[in-house]
Amino acid sequence: MHAFHYADGRLRCEDVDLSAVAEAHGTPTYVYSAGTILDHYQRLDAALGELDHLICYAAKANSNRAVLRLLAQGGAGFDIVSGGELYRVLAAGGEAARCTFAGVGKSPEEIDYALAEGVFSFNVESEAELEEINRIAAARDVRAPIALRVNPDVEASTHKYISTGTHENKFGIGIDVVMRVYEAASRMPHIRIRGLQMHIGSQITEARPFAEAIGKVAPLVRELKERYGLEFLSIGGGMGIVYKRALDSGTGKWWHDHGGEESAFSVQSYASAILPPLRSLGVRVLLEPGRFLVGNAGVLLTRVRYVKQAAAKKFVIVDAGMNDLIRPALYQSHHEIVPVTEPGERRPENVDVVGPVCESGDFFAQDRELPELREGELVALMSAGAYGFVMASNYNSRPFPAEVLVRGGRFAVVRERQTYADLVRGERDFV
Ligand code: LLP
Repeated sequence: MHAFHYADGRLRCEDVDLSAVAEAHGTPTYVYSAGTILDHYQRLDAALGELDHLICYAAKANSNRAVLRLLAQGGAGFDIVSGGELYRVLAAGGEAARCTFAGVGKSPEEIDYALAEGVFSFNVESEAELEEINRIAAARDVRAPIALRVNPDVEASTHKYISTGTHENKFGIGIDVVMRVYEAASRMPHIRIRGLQMHIGSQITEARPFAEAIGKVAPLVRELKERYGLEFLSIGGGMGIVYKRALDSGTGKWWHDHGGEESAFSVQSYASAILPPLRSLGVRVLLEPGRFLVGNAGVLLTRVRYVKQAAAKKFVIVDAGMNDLIRPALYQSHHEIVPVTEPGERRPENVDVVGPVCESGDFFAQDRELPELREGELVALMSAGAYGFVMASNYNSRPFPAEVLVRGGRFAVVRERQTYADLVRGERDFV
């Protein structure tokens, strides 16, 4: 489903004119479509209908409470990576018993908190962590449910900062040694072996690496099931989305509604690649999608402040900065930039779209062909629903932007814009 489209010359999210959002709540503001998030969740859920499965939304992608609540109400579980995320999920009405707790560096406090709340499973990334969990569970006199994260050593072509499934990075336990760690786990009195987990990377745009990784761990799953009664296999997240759209030469529109499928590869092709190897395993399947559910469901709405013609280039300076959306600076990632007022016959020109932060890395586009943008007009930085707000900072003492959720023709602030007073809250003088 594609919730962002032009109607009557204005860019809308569902039935809401984005300029009405800017008028009511200012800019920069993240705007999310509830309908899109639920549609993506339901389509994935339906495609896997024949399997005993649980979709654990990766809360790190967008952990706004209203977004978590939407998914909790839709029936999702959650993949969490910190005590803070567990707290948010619970505050949003999610259940700990449907949460998997991942991450390479869980603290004793986080482990204890997750045990107290009763998470579904800890995804364990090292033997040292396993021992620590065993020790903390002993103090509570409980058995901690665990899955080991195996590194299947599969190459998934994506940005090097978000590829995780090869032997060269810090994640998981080598596929050659993981059986030995399971044996060690089976001897720990406060550990209960529950699953096997893997995650090969993020923004993967083909189904092949997923199927390949499942194929690689399938023999392990069978053996673990026989030996220890393994209950589940988590195949991680990583399904990619479409960030880049070519100018539609047919209609000449800068932004056009493709309708239908929003994934880089379709839910159907993903499902048909992964279902055959999973079907025969006879264990429950967990998935941890983040970006796929929320990425295309959000935009960062920003206003053009100044247009500056320098000697060699034209700069369009907007009121959002790299502190609000860091993906272009950090990963050279592409976000479409779309005027809220439909550009029509405006002439195209090549510009840099930059923010107000004092860094040359503070850009959203470089040398990009865009319709001529005018001072004061609104533009949307598209596909910013995942890893957008959650990676924001207060750099340059810029307050966090607001977040707005749209449902049909209605919208509401789901996180207020920070104030200057918020910026210094908790700071103390020491004289
Ligand atoms: N499971 C595990 C163990 C993960 O590490 C991740 C993401 C996910 C699931 C969810 O992945 P997704 O379905 O969203 O691809 N900040 C980067 C992405 C970092 C992803 C980290 N791990 C970005 O903006 O592209």
